[in-house]
Amino acid sequence: MDFKTWVPGAAGLSGAKADALLLILAGAELPAGLEPALADAARGAVQAGDFKFEAGQLVVLHAPAGVGPRRLVLAAAGKDGGVKALRHAAAAGVAALKAGGTRQLVVALAGGCTDADFARVLVGACEEAVYTYRHTKPSAAAPSALAKVSLACTREEARGLTQAIAEGAAVAAGVALARELANRPGNHCTPGHLAAQARLLAKQHGLKVDVLERKDVERLGMGAFLAVAQGSDEPLRFIVMRWNGAARTDRPVVLVGKGITFDSGGISIKPAAEMDEMKFDMGGAASVLGTMHAVATMRAKVNLIGIIPACENLPSGRSVKPGDVVTSLSGRTIEILNTDAEGRLILCDALTYAERFDPAVVVDIATLTGACVIALGHQRSGLFSPDDALAAELLQAGEQALDPAWRLPLDDEYDEALKSHFADMGNVGGRAGGSITAAKFLQRFTGKFRWAHLDIAGTAWKSGAAKGATGRPVGLLTRFVLTRAR
Ligand code: BES
Ligand code: MN
Ligand code: ZN
Repeated sequence: MDFKTWVPGAAGLSGAKADALLLILAGAELPAGLEPALADAARGAVQAGDFKFEAGQLVVLHAPAGVGPRRLVLAAAGKDGGVKALRHAAAAGVAALKAGGTRQLVVALAGGCTDADFARVLVGACEEAVYTYRHTKPSAAAPSALAKVSLACTREEARGLTQAIAEGAAVAAGVALARELANRPGNHCTPGHLAAQARLLAKQHGLKVDVLERKDVERLGMGAFLAVAQGSDEPLRFIVMRWNGAARTDRPVVLVGKGITFDSGGISIKPAAEMDEMKFDMGGAASVLGTMHAVATMRAKVNLIGIIPACENLPSGRSVKPGDVVTSLSGRTIEILNTDAEGRLILCDALTYAERFDPAVVVDIATLTGACVIALGHQRSGLFSPDDALAAELLQAGEQALDPAWRLPLDDEYDEALKSHFADMGNVGGRAGGSITAAKFLQRFTGKFRWAHLDIAGTAWKSGAAKGATGRPVGLLTRFVLTRAR
């Protein structure tokens, strides 16, 4: 989709040469100063009982008098007029048009400020609304004809919006990539497929990519990662991507994404119901690829490294068993008490591997625990960090990107649950505080850098009627990385 700013001429918004005009109305009443044709149309819809100035209200009008575009969509954002309400209104408006004949759309905001925040959100909402999964279902709804979106603004506003539109488009492309990869089934989106995607990004943007295979990982001594991968015939991959946007001396931000392309639980096998959703267990990896894509598209002046340990977790005659003890890359031993707590096992070796980059910060992203879904539901990702300043930065990035997180604790006392009689640590605590003990396990491998952990088990995908990946937390991560760019 192509996004531009548009400064209306003497004929106003009604003079737009487009197939549709989406008018977002902020406030609890008809905004003052709205041009007559549009005000009349809105008043008419209200009088007919089809529209109210309340968040969520939407009406599509055909060929309203005095309006050039043949479709006029009114979308109310309500009286608070916050970015979240604007995002909802924009998404609903575009959703109403995406399947029809609209190729060129003009979007205008009445009763609010057409600023950078609105522009970013609008671009994101448009791209999100037109996404359709097709990889293994080519018969899905035809691609939307919507090709060009113009954001109406004044000449003064226009200057500040170009950068915001570019950022919105880059993030939206990153979100779409993360969604697409996570939606692909486990037999398509294998560790090798993720590696191929990383190579594709490398070619597209000039990223550097290294892909390690089993023999490399064995040579390094990643005993925890190998233990998870050994039950599957699908070969593992350990993917390292580098975006060098800043000086060599600038310490990099490192993102580590859990890349379990299917999680059956292994010998500690999961129940059958909803097990298909464990193809989404590479959502962390997908968000790292999406963020690399967004940041490289922006050619941001920052050094960013993405690390993805990728494999399947399956039961077989070669699987790791409960009670097995393995030696991690850090040299410490781990008693694998539950083979379904595999995410932390592949991540701990990736975190140790990250030390070699002398990172400014490391953020890992993982669909790590069902307990996090119980704690926070599907709205906010779980955030863990012993570093208050880093936690605050990530929380703020989440708020700005409308991709919010919530901080959970890491008190020392929680660590006691990980004691083992037969190794330096067990890989599970009890049921109590399951997402915290998982984070405590990871924390044991982060002594050499500033670190935060995002548990996205509740936010990476939706179940039920709208089943599918969300592309979260690409928005949060990209905003975080961009604020660190110079
Ligand atoms: N990938 C799962 C976590 C998960 C479960 C995410 C359900 C979303 C929905 C993870 O590998 C896992 O199985 N975790 C276990 C840990 C337990 C064995 C300590 C869990 O949450 O049950
Ligand atoms: Mn598991
Ligand atoms: Zn898992």
